[in-house]
Amino acid sequence: MTTATKETLGFQAEVKQLLQLMIHSLYSNREIFLRELISNASDACDKLRFEALHNGSLFESDPDLGIRVSFDRTARTLTIADNGIGMSREEVVSNLGTIAKSGTREFFQALTGDQQKDAHLIGQFGVGFYSSFIVADRVTVVTRRAGLAADQGVRWESEGAGEFTLEMIDKPARGTEITLHLKEGQDDLLSGWKLREIIRRYSDHIVQPIVMKKEEWQDGEQVTTGEDETVNQASALWARPKSEISDEQYKEFYKHVGHDFDDPLAWLHARVEGRQDYTQLLYIPSHAPFDLWDRQQRHGVKLYVRRVFIMDDAEQLLPVYLRFVRGVVDSNDLPLNVSREILQESKDIEAIRAGCTKKVLGLLEDMAENRKEDYAKFWQAFGRVLKEGVGEDPANRERIAGLLRFASTHADTQEESVSLADYIGRMKEGQDRIYTVSADSFTAAKNSPHLEIFRKKGIEVLLLSERVDEWVLGNLAEFDGKPLASVAKGGLDLGKLEDEAEKQAQEAQAGEFKELVGKMQASLGERVKEVRVTHRLTDSPACLVADEHDLGGNLARLLKAAGQKVPDSKPILEINPGHPVVQRLKHEETRFDDWSAVLFDQALLAEGGQLEDPAAFVRRVNALMLEMGSR
Ligand SMILES: Nc1ncnc2c1ncn2[C@@H]1O[C@H](COP(=O)(O)OP(=O)(O)OP(=O)(O)O)[C@@H](O)[C@H]1O
Ligand SMILES: [Mg+2]
Repeated sequence: MTTATKETLGFQAEVKQLLQLMIHSLYSNREIFLRELISNASDACDKLRFEALHNGSLFESDPDLGIRVSFDRTARTLTIADNGIGMSREEVVSNLGTIAKSGTREFFQALTGDQQKDAHLIGQFGVGFYSSFIVADRVTVVTRRAGLAADQGVRWESEGAGEFTLEMIDKPARGTEITLHLKEGQDDLLSGWKLREIIRRYSDHIVQPIVMKKEEWQDGEQVTTGEDETVNQASALWARPKSEISDEQYKEFYKHVGHDFDDPLAWLHARVEGRQDYTQLLYIPSHAPFDLWDRQQRHGVKLYVRRVFIMDDAEQLLPVYLRFVRGVVDSNDLPLNVSREILQESKDIEAIRAGCTKKVLGLLEDMAENRKEDYAKFWQAFGRVLKEGVGEDPANRERIAGLLRFASTHADTQEESVSLADYIGRMKEGQDRIYTVSADSFTAAKNSPHLEIFRKKGIEVLLLSERVDEWVLGNLAEFDGKPLASVAKGGLDLGKLEDEAEKQAQEAQAGEFKELVGKMQASLGERVKEVRVTHRLTDSPACLVADEHDLGGNLARLLKAAGQKVPDSKPILEINPGHPVVQRLKHEETRFDDWSAVLFDQALLAEGGQLEDPAAFVRRVNALMLEMGSR
């Protein structure tokens, strides 16, 4: 049944916007359209081969998968054809009329209107099929899905403005044929030499043969002959010996598997033999994709079995905290009909995952050691994800901890560049712990009153301000034999960092303030676990600390915000005996309760907490100010 009716449909609004942007900002990069179309054709062949594992009849009578590129100088058209999976009518409508990618909204929000910046963003987003309109003012797609009848062919056509037409047609051969009607000024693409050059540069690694008609010189002119010629190497890049692969080829392959426009930061390529036999070619991207935080994101590591594509984003191949890695794993042992369910149970996959994890950590260690600038870039893009590994992967905890970078009081900037090893290298004589402070922002951490004594004594403290940092602290008790200690938890014990004279002076003061401490404790009642004198403060009158085994204030607030039940633990109020406010409190009679409450509330605010009764705080402060003013 062939209906002669031709329908006109509108593009989704985002498609129109993307088309506009792409045509204008990627113009100087126009050659990428061919890479994108060939990459789609290759994906389509992979998909067919995979579906045919379960249903051999999909091959129809044409099992040799390939891609053909041809051109017609007179008609000024360029055609890219494949005998892959093809598309049904519904698939055409949704694949070539909408953008179904995750991260689409984030992408459009990130656009600036500045062409150069936006061109870069489009590259990160993945340009895909729509890039045809960089060089064409009309694109015709003729396709039929494998397994459907010959009269289920579809013809899609568009001028890339607001709409496209659809028509059912006869298409005896399965697969997809994309014809570009070139814009004015694009005629240099109608040359076998030029096309071969572009294909070799961008698509050499494509596994299927990319075929063109041979050309010959006749009477001073290039003419195409009837003979076919394969233009690319058409062998799996990862299966070739390393010595035969250039950096350029590695990078182009990354752009294909990683769906990225930029070069990767680093890669590793290794064949593992032994109990498991597999090849890995894994890449570290140079920037985070739009959907890094989306647990559903789909471009991960591709799994192949003996060169046959099995699946995209085989999440069992790497732990979640390495989800930024892109690339290919090709196993020689797994069965071809392996499914996601089988992967979950498979001991072979467990071994491959452990192997890939070790290699990736090794690659990162190497980068951290020998390419510090690149490592800083990596850390900025993916540090927060890697931190998850401290809790997720106990077997590799120490190695992951070695890769962590923090902000600290050493430089006092937000930049995370201090490793735990750097910190240990700078520890003071007699210091046996790695000190940390955590708050919900860098500024709050940096200005935390708990740091005062540490700053005075020149002891470095790591400044933690990301949610995942609490997770790191909860899972990392020590590094290189040195325990991590929060400066806002437990009593201040600087151990050998204090001398005898200091300790004696403190004991004397504790005695001197004993009465005040008792009075404050009675006044604050249920709000505190304890009031005590501290020496951690130099400028602030008071601060809150958590008891050794209670949750820290920052963590308790994070958990509450996340809707979790938090055990009710009260803070300890520590007061600074050297502070004038605390000293005058010793002799305060009438407004003692107000002063105590204000000190407590201040301390809570300073560590990023919220007041239970802010209005009462304001009232008390005003009353105290008025009273002081009237003296
Ligand atoms: N030659 C083809 N054969 C079959 N399906 C195709 C072909 N070309 C495109 N498609 C379909 O159209 C969809 C959109 O292609 P497009 O290149 O825009 O995005 P993508 O390949 O999914 O992602 P990327 O942005 O990384 O290229 C593809 O996912 C695929 O389903
Ligand atoms: Mg594509």
